[in-house]
Amino acid sequence: MLEASLANLDIDAAPERLQHRLSAFNHTRLSPALPTPSWKRDLDAMDELLREEGEFLEAQRRAVTARAAAAPTDAGGFTAWFEALNENGPGQGDPLFPWLAEACSLDEMKWFLTQEVAGEAGFEDLTAMTQVKMPVRPKLELARNYWDEMGRGNAKGMHGPLLDYLAERLGLEPKVETTVWESLALANTMVGLAANRRYAYHSIGALGVIELTAPGRAALVATGLKRLGVPSHDRHYFDLHAILDVKHSAAWNAEVIHPLVAEDPRVAHAIAEGALMRLECGARCFDRYRREFGLTERAAEMA
Ligand SMILES: [Fe+2]
Ligand SMILES: [Fe+2]
Repeated sequence: MLEASLANLDIDAAPERLQHRLSAFNHTRLSPALPTPSWKRDLDAMDELLREEGEFLEAQRRAVTARAAAAPTDAGGFTAWFEALNENGPGQGDPLFPWLAEACSLDEMKWFLTQEVAGEAGFEDLTAMTQVKMPVRPKLELARNYWDEMGRGNAKGMHGPLLDYLAERLGLEPKVETTVWESLALANTMVGLAANRRYAYHSIGALGVIELTAPGRAALVATGLKRLGVPSHDRHYFDLHAILDVKHSAAWNAEVIHPLVAEDPRVAHAIAEGALMRLECGARCFDRYRREFGLTERAAEMA
């Protein structure tokens, strides 16, 4: 495992530095702050980072443009194409998750969760940022989704803190410095799409594909946590998302994606690109995690 990490060090050094810069940038730009005397200089620094972020997002967009361009642009056809990503999207059916459900150790599960928690961009804030100036019908669905994320006004039911609770109970210490760059890249992609209005429809696709694909993964992680003796109260975040996101996804597809494409077919390919970008980010994480666990080698030995 260590040798594999060392072998990858050179290749990973450049993306690692970029993702650390973008993570710090996203932390700063999203944190509530106060006016400072240096605000003009800060804007200059921000301008450079925005360009760097743009290059990073465009490179990922280029990688999926051809596949996205093949999606239909009529509302019904596009929604069916989008839903099919649950079966045929990048990273779907990754062997990492059955392994987490059936075979990993508690330490391995904790390492996986630490990476996931550190790479968590905050679905509720991304949804809130994305809904700005959207037409009424999609805006209302984004509002209902946001409200669920917020525990429908009840702090104990908020989704973010449910995940934090599990992390606390397992004694996890998620930090940017100990998070693999692939996981940081996933979070930085989600924030980049939600924070720049030119990617508003990409963000709709990226968030929607999380709702679509999360239940399958959440169910397998929940099974693994149960097998490892984590009490049901502690693992509630994963039990909840295995069920609730099925409903969220159906509503997102019917109330957000279908009407947006019906109103303007040009947005279909932007939504498709965003969804594929998000799935590619996930696939890259699963691949890295499997390498860290030595799963790829174990599978090759068994073949
Ligand atoms: Fe959630
Ligand atoms: Fe959800």
